[in-house]
Amino acid sequence: MTHNSPDLGLYIHWPFCLSKCPYCDFNSHVVSDIDEGAWQKALSSELAHMAELCEASAYGKRPLTSIFIGGGTPSLMPVDLLASLIEQAEMLFGFTPNIEITAEANPTSVETAKLQGFRDAGVNRISLGVQALNDEALAFLGRGHSAQDAIRSLEKARLLFDRLSVDLIYGRIGQTAKAWETELSQALSFGLDHLSLYQLTIEQGTQFYTRHKKGERLNLDEDEMADLYEVTEARITEHDMACYEISNYAKKGAESRHNLIYWRTDDWLGIGPGAFGRMTMPKGRQEIATRRSPSGWLSQTSDKGHGIDTQTLETDDAIIEEIFMMGLRAAEGVPLSRLTRLTGESKWPFAQGDIASFIEAGWLICDETHLRASFEGRLRLNYILKTLLAS
Ligand SMILES: C[S@@+](CC[C@H](N)C(=O)[O-])C[C@H]1O[C@@H](n2cnc3c(N)ncnc32)[C@H](O)[C@@H]1O
Ligand code: SF4
Repeated sequence: MTHNSPDLGLYIHWPFCLSKCPYCDFNSHVVSDIDEGAWQKALSSELAHMAELCEASAYGKRPLTSIFIGGGTPSLMPVDLLASLIEQAEMLFGFTPNIEITAEANPTSVETAKLQGFRDAGVNRISLGVQALNDEALAFLGRGHSAQDAIRSLEKARLLFDRLSVDLIYGRIGQTAKAWETELSQALSFGLDHLSLYQLTIEQGTQFYTRHKKGERLNLDEDEMADLYEVTEARITEHDMACYEISNYAKKGAESRHNLIYWRTDDWLGIGPGAFGRMTMPKGRQEIATRRSPSGWLSQTSDKGHGIDTQTLETDDAIIEEIFMMGLRAAEGVPLSRLTRLTGESKWPFAQGDIASFIEAGWLICDETHLRASFEGRLRLNYILKTLLAS
């Protein structure tokens, strides 16, 4: 096993929540009765299956550089279950010395009380779903906690974890740039070194989508969002943080290593319902997806030892698309060497004409190693990607 092999991440999905937030289209479900023993067994056997897959990969067995436990609401997971999965992952793969182990947590009082147990289990980074810092906005977002709960949780997490990130959702209807500036300044006053700041989007299949279809306005339009994005950039810069991905801001060195795996299109494995993975196998890069429905995933995993639904070799076009989609979101941009290595010299240059005109407009910047979006480009990233990927 070499420690110089490319980064490898593990994503663990816990699909349950106390209630369903009206904006959320994540694979998250409210159920009254969870058979914890059955879930533990199934997650453990899928983890073992993924470790076998890793051994058969182009790089063979290699240590994990990061684990991300997401959901759903992983802070509802029994602490023992989480601890046993982390222990098993270390046994099967090994860990790099500076492994990052992140868990998402919701700031209700019950979950705050479990933070110590998470730390004891090996979690060394918390991503706290604060979402808003006033009760009116939290009620609009259908959250089950108050702003005071969130602040209490934040303070406790800060004492327990060296690495702490907070999620906020902005661009809610009626939210002015001034109000957002105040809310963001309040969040920054906690001395965080990482923030995920998401613009509220209306996703199909959510309660917000139904209300939006009936004509209700719930989020700001593109121009208004751009104003708030500019406020974000200004405040963040004042606090010595930088945007290292379209919605993620960090002080130097505090970037999430797990997220960087996605944006650099490195390899990761995913366990739990609806988890995705990407693995470089001897014949090429594979996309692995597990069954999305929790009950379907659980029964298949109990029968077969894994809940994999599809496992397909990625085409060159799919790889290029992923490299652009993910790379241009990240501040460091698309590594040109990655494109040529993965797809062969003949496939690069790609979309030359459009790239040249975006560079001319100041939206894209190309140096000797990377192609990346400027601040102006990030404001128009959807348009840029749509144009490039249609070429
Ligand atoms: C897996 S989700 C939630 C994690 C955790 N259960 C929570 O609610 O805090 C990760 C993040 O995505 C963001 N998010 C989810 N749906 C969104 C939407 N429609 N618009 C903007 N942000 C969204 C929220 O900030 C959320 O914290
Ligand atoms: S935002 Fe979080 S708590 Fe709310 S439904 Fe989605 S995953 Fe669950």
